Amino acid sequence: MKKSTGSKKVKTAVFISGTGSNLKNLIKFSLIKSSPIHISFVLSNNFNAKGLNFAIKNNIKYKIFNFKNKNKDENQILFYLKKKKINLICLAGFMKILSRNFIKKFSGKIVNIHPSLLPKYKGLNTHVKAIQNNDNLAGCTVHFVTARLDSGKIILQKEVKILKKDTPTSLAKKVLRQEHKLYPAAIKKIFN
Ligand code: GRF
Repeated sequence: MKKSTGSKKVKTAVFISGTGSNLKNLIKFSLIKSSPIHISFVLSNNFNAKGLNFAIKNNIKYKIFNFKNKNKDENQILFYLKKKKINLICLAGFMKILSRNFIKKFSGKIVNIHPSLLPKYKGLNTHVKAIQNNDNLAGCTVHFVTARLDSGKIILQKEVKILKKDTPTSLAKKVLRQEHKLYPAAIKKIFN
């Protein structure tokens, strides 16, 4: 993917549902001069998402869509993203599944971070599954989003060792620390 015009940064939207630590980290990254992205918009499906505070603190426009009428909400979102000339969507802990139609309209321009070494453990509860299966390695993946859940082309992955003493909670913390390094690195890779 190319940066749109000259040295201008790519207008980016981040979609969240919860804590927003990846959003916080992406905002920090976007403020670095050499970062290829500018975060222009934050979307949440959840009114109570803590992560919205990072948008507020950083004066980033945000909107909430509850996805109860998914078709209607997605059409409004698409209209807004087009109006704002958004050219990249970063999903960061976004718990709704976007429709095939939505993804088609943003084909190749939606990326996601997933807390496992894909293609292992698509979907939820990745850390519980890794520990239950006695895996030695867990990790995280940044990938392009396609209509098949957690299945698009992998951009970057990072492995994390699972220790005997690890619980799903301790493992989630370790993986999240790596996610915060991996997402910016993957974005840099996309635009280089
Ligand atoms: C992360 O582990 C991400 O990989 C997963 O959901 C979690 C979101 O964390 N999709 P946060 O809201 O960014 O803190």
